[in-house]
Amino acid sequence: MFWYGQSLLFSLLCLFFCSTMVFSELSSTQREAMVNISKSLSGSKVPWDINEEPNPCYWKGINCNSMNSSITGITLSGFSLSSSDFLPIVCKLDSLQMLNVSNNRFALIPEEFITDCGKIDGLKLLDFSKNRLVGNLPKFDGFVGLEILDLSYNSLGGKISLELEELVGLKSLNLSFNQFTGSLPTQLGNSTVLEELLMSVNHFVGTIPVGIMVYRNLRVLDLSQNNLSGSVPDKIGELSKLEVLILSSNKLTGEIPKSLSDIPTLLRFAAHQNQFFGSIPSGLTKSLKILDLSYNSLGGSIPSDFLSPQNLQTVDLSNNQLKGSIPTANMSRSLVRLRLGSNQLDGKIPASFEGLKNLMYLELDTNNFTESIPPQLGSCHSLALLDLSQNGLTGTLPGELGKLQSLQVLKLQSNHLTGEIPVEITQLLNLSTLNISGNSLSGPIPSSISRLQKLTVINLQSNRLSGSIPDSLASMTMLLELQLGKNQLGGYIPKMPPNLQIALNLSSNLFEGPIPRNLDGLFLLEVLDLSNNNFLGEIPKFLTGLRALARLMLTNNSLSGNIPKFAPFVVLETSGNKDLKADPSPNASPAPHVSKRGTQVRVKVIIFIVSFLLFYFLSFFYFDTKLGRLVLMLRRNYRFCSIQTD
Ligand SMILES: *[C@@H]1O[C@H](CO)[C@@H](O)[C@H](O)[C@H]1NC(C)=O
Ligand SMILES: *[C@@H]1O[C@H](CO)[C@@H](O)[C@H](O)[C@H]1NC(C)=O
Ligand SMILES: *[C@@H]1O[C@H](CO)[C@@H](O)[C@H](O)[C@H]1NC(C)=O
Ligand SMILES: *[C@@H]1O[C@H](CO)[C@@H](O)[C@H](O)[C@H]1NC(C)=O
Ligand SMILES: *[C@@H]1O[C@H](CO)[C@@H](O)[C@H](O)[C@H]1NC(C)=O
Ligand SMILES: *[C@@H]1O[C@H](CO)[C@@H](O)[C@H](O)[C@H]1NC(C)=O
Ligand SMILES: *[C@@H]1O[C@H](CO)[C@@H](O)[C@H](O)[C@H]1NC(C)=O
Ligand SMILES: *[C@@H]1O[C@H](CO)[C@@H](O)[C@H](O)[C@H]1NC(C)=O
Ligand SMILES: *[C@@H]1O[C@H](CO)[C@@H](O)[C@H](O)[C@H]1NC(C)=O
Ligand SMILES: *[C@@H]1O[C@H](CO)[C@@H](O)[C@H](O)[C@H]1NC(C)=O
Ligand SMILES: *[C@@H]1O[C@H](CO)[C@@H](O)[C@H](O)[C@H]1NC(C)=O
Ligand SMILES: *[C@@H]1O[C@H](CO)[C@@H](O)[C@H](O)[C@H]1NC(C)=O
Repeated sequence: MFWYGQSLLFSLLCLFFCSTMVFSELSSTQREAMVNISKSLSGSKVPWDINEEPNPCYWKGINCNSMNSSITGITLSGFSLSSSDFLPIVCKLDSLQMLNVSNNRFALIPEEFITDCGKIDGLKLLDFSKNRLVGNLPKFDGFVGLEILDLSYNSLGGKISLELEELVGLKSLNLSFNQFTGSLPTQLGNSTVLEELLMSVNHFVGTIPVGIMVYRNLRVLDLSQNNLSGSVPDKIGELSKLEVLILSSNKLTGEIPKSLSDIPTLLRFAAHQNQFFGSIPSGLTKSLKILDLSYNSLGGSIPSDFLSPQNLQTVDLSNNQLKGSIPTANMSRSLVRLRLGSNQLDGKIPASFEGLKNLMYLELDTNNFTESIPPQLGSCHSLALLDLSQNGLTGTLPGELGKLQSLQVLKLQSNHLTGEIPVEITQLLNLSTLNISGNSLSGPIPSSISRLQKLTVINLQSNRLSGSIPDSLASMTMLLELQLGKNQLGGYIPKMPPNLQIALNLSSNLFEGPIPRNLDGLFLLEVLDLSNNNFLGEIPKFLTGLRALARLMLTNNSLSGNIPKFAPFVVLETSGNKDLKADPSPNASPAPHVSKRGTQVRVKVIIFIVSFLLFYFLSFFYFDTKLGRLVLMLRRNYRFCSIQTD
């Protein structure tokens, strides 16, 4: 009993000490290989030093087995390494399972690496992505255990035929973002364990080979951004485990294969920017979360059950030739994004969008939708973008839309909307773009519009709006564009938002009287359109001081006097003003009536001219607004002086 206990104790002690002594150290070959690798990397940013840390298992980027007796993984990512000389030494580590050298500057994989590492049966992962590899794909001999091969984001090229055929364990192959040509390879390891195949952004041509359909375990197939043509084989439906299928940006044609509806696992299908035609197969969305078929030539109507599957989140069918109405049955509560723009859809916009609480983007523009905007849209609380523009919508703009507190973009332009702009719209505090142009809206612009402090674009042009522009507009400091042309606005023109930049358009309204002084200070404004009104008097000189102004349109008013001198890059349109005279002397100063004054005045005027030109010149070089204001202020003061002497 004692003896037994003693021997048990001894065994336990031995198990503890002997094992740490025998197994917890790397073999001398592995240690030596690591030392040799670290020497080969000396001078790089790789922080490996045997003198600082004698156990390579503790080096950054090194993985060892649980006993730390052999090296299983090496990650050398993002060290800007360009010399791949050390790679063959790595193959001395016959216990290696993973090598990740992504995000470096390797131009080639040494032949010796392929032959030597190909013999490591346990090697499962090779990541050479994001390097500068050129030339053809090496022929991978051996590598029987390789499961993951990532060569994406390199400049590999040429055709691929049998280079990968021996990789019998390959589960994930990523060759995206290279310059491969020829047809898609089908010899991808003589087994069918492949689960992920990513070939996007290359120059592959020809059809999608039926040979790919033998890889029955495929979950991810990405062939986007190549030059693939022909139709998609119906056999694709046999990939019964497919979750992601991306065929976008090719030259594929024919119909969307009906067999895709049979794949119960399919979550994402994208085939935008191809030449698919025919109608959308029914049941396609049965299991989908994300569908993108935009920019094709699909026709017919949208299947009636299309939006019903309750997992459906994102649907993009824009830019096709779809007809008929929006299917209303049981719309998916999960819908986040629905884009049906630029088709030939008609009928009314269904009230069944009601309560779609996840819907953020609804784009139904450029179709033939008629009747009124359903007020129920106001209950889609997450809507950030609502684009119903370019349809045949009638009726009023429902005030319920004012409940869309997340709305950032509201586009209703080019419809036949009537009635007033509902004041509720001015509760959309997150709105940045408001385009309701090209309708028949009447009444005033609500003065509470200035509450919308995030607005950058207001486009109300081509309506029947009347009254005057609200005073409060001046406080809208984010506003860059204000389009009010073609309305029946008139009266006093208030001070404008100071950061207007893209355009201020007041054309074709009922404004009259002198061009208001209120428009000075718009130093960022590039386009000012005042045409087709009844502005009177001279063209004020302060307009020449709007430094960013590139286009000034004054056509068809009642302006008179001389045209002041604008900077040469300003495109000026002044036709249709009977009494307006072009300035006779191109170098004339803006100071009038010089001849009748005494010498003192003349000297002052000359000082004024010289200073004016100097400041004018300066203001071209200094684009800083503050200095610009200073320059303008000084300019005004000089003008003030010269007028005082009158
Ligand atoms: C390490 O480098 C030395 C000197 O170049 C060489 O003799 C030795 O075989 C190398 N050992 C390993 C394991 O690579
Ligand atoms: C093995 O090395 C790792 C560091 O790489 C260390 O955290 C771990 O404790 C070591 N395991 C043993 C059994 O020594
Ligand atoms: C390789 O390493 C990089 C950087 O740590 C990492 O982002 C990448 O996912 C790794 N690759 C694989 C296949 O694990
Ligand atoms: C290559 O594809 C695989 C599988 O989808 C993915 O995990 C990996 O991140 C991709 N590589 C890069 C560099 O994006
Ligand atoms: C691939 O498998 C087929 C049938 O299983 C066999 O006839 C062929 O020899 C194999 N090819 C290779 C390269 O292993
Ligand atoms: C597709 O082929 C055309 C010529 O046939 C070529 O101009 C174009 O660059 C190719 N595109 C890609 C992505 O390879
Ligand atoms: C609508 O969905 C519910 C469950 O979400 C289901 O019970 C019902 O049959 C569906 N109706 C139609 C017309 O699809
Ligand atoms: C709307 O319908 C008319 C005729 O019904 C057709 O001429 C027009 O092209 C359609 N517009 C759009 C955008 O589909
Ligand atoms: C408005 O936008 C801000 C910032 O983008 C966001 O934090 C806030 O939740 C939004 N308000 C609503 C009601 O969505
Ligand atoms: C607003 O609508 C007009 C057409 O009336 C269009 O020209 C303009 O580009 C639109 N602007 C924005 C920001 O949507
Ligand atoms: C100003 O608006 C009118 C009418 O809405 C439009 O025709 C004109 O092109 C716009 N001017 C500029 C410079 O865009
Ligand atoms: C000016 O008025 C004439 C005649 O009414 C019209 O033909 C022309 O288009 C107008 N010019 C502009 C720029 O609107």
